Amino acid sequence: MSKLSDSEIARMHPETLALSYGFDPWLSEGAVKPPVFLTSTFVFKHAADGKQFFAWAHGEGTPPPRREMGLIYSRINNPNLEIFEDRVALWEGMKDACSFSSGMAAIATTLLATHQPGDEMIVCAPVYGGTDSLIHHFLKRFGIAAHFVPAGVDAPALAEPLVTARTRSIYIESPANPNNRLTDIGRMKELALRHGPAQAGRGAGRILVIVDNTMAGPVFAQPAKVGADIVLYSATKFIGGHSDVVGGVALANDETLLTAIAQHRALLGGMPNPYTAWLLTRSLETLKIRAEQQQRNAVQVAAFLTSHAKVRKVLYIGLLAPDDPEYAIYRKQHTGPGSLISFYIRGGEREAFQFLDHLKVFRLAVSLGSTESLAQHPATMTHSGLSPEDKKMGGISDDLVRLSIGIENAEDLIWDLQQALESA
Ligand SMILES: Cc1ncc(COP(=O)(O)O)c(C=O)c1O
Repeated sequence: MSKLSDSEIARMHPETLALSYGFDPWLSEGAVKPPVFLTSTFVFKHAADGKQFFAWAHGEGTPPPRREMGLIYSRINNPNLEIFEDRVALWEGMKDACSFSSGMAAIATTLLATHQPGDEMIVCAPVYGGTDSLIHHFLKRFGIAAHFVPAGVDAPALAEPLVTARTRSIYIESPANPNNRLTDIGRMKELALRHGPAQAGRGAGRILVIVDNTMAGPVFAQPAKVGADIVLYSATKFIGGHSDVVGGVALANDETLLTAIAQHRALLGGMPNPYTAWLLTRSLETLKIRAEQQQRNAVQVAAFLTSHAKVRKVLYIGLLAPDDPEYAIYRKQHTGPGSLISFYIRGGEREAFQFLDHLKVFRLAVSLGSTESLAQHPATMTHSGLSPEDKKMGGISDDLVRLSIGIENAEDLIWDLQQALESA
């Protein structure tokens, strides 16, 4: 049991609770850190408990809240998954979370849990290439259609005429990957409510606002505070933060939604293994200091890039001018600009590749949010599967490079960028 009362917990910050919340040492021999519960199954105290659980699983009676269910089998629940889920929900300021074996498992399971054949989605483009393929190809096969609008200030106005009685969700990445465009989540929520079930006679169900917050959160943005119903993560990125683990998270405040997602996770089998959940829990302890150092470095790197003759344009939300229409969204949704920078190099693929091949400190690798700085070429790597039209909509041209800034010394990073740009 925690020595902190509920009211004391309520006044603590996530970086404090990340070190202890949700773990009782006295259930584990007094261990300060949670052990890895490497077990596939858990002992029932009585046969009647097992019978009761399976009755609930078959839809008989009303099951208790997820956390009160008792431990059953590690595809359904496990202490390492639960400790991670409790702590990540604190960071997001949300009621509950469901952890996954990857960001894609979180996204795919959530969309399958919340959509039926015949439903439609409105998607703010660009989205991560894997998500784009999932929506364009996989979900389409199951009769779930999508309309794409460009992310940015105009997205709500462009989305509104696309809403039909079949619209089930508005899917947003903000900042969008890789062009860092911001979309107003609160305005999308207003749109969802305007066209929701209260609109008598339309036969409309509730429209969910689903936000992939991988790029900004949870330290610098918490989308549920401005209207998101479901928040998704590739925990492989900032949450894991060390390029040594792949994981994902879905969060919701509505218990019915979270239960549906958890039930689909149990059916599809996309839960993380206990060691993955343990690693992610370990990483949450340093999340804030990592993210803040990465951001401090990114601000310096972005300033350097804007002044370099070989750079045509830098896309970084820390560079938004107060008169830029996206600045108001930034102020509403973010407490800091984070550490993802994209930029257009003068030239095309040849110059971009020369630059990437000359980097010595930055690693030439996809992914983002880790302690080491990474650089990649979205048009031929993370977003290579997008159609030419979608690449155009997202500004993903051959001269675009994406940087994820790590925790190294900023002077060393700038030195590396300088020498690689000179070779391009
Ligand atoms: C914004 C975003 N969402 C989701 C994913 C997918 O996550 P994962 O690779 O953990 O499956 C990625 C991966 O790069 C991403 O960048």
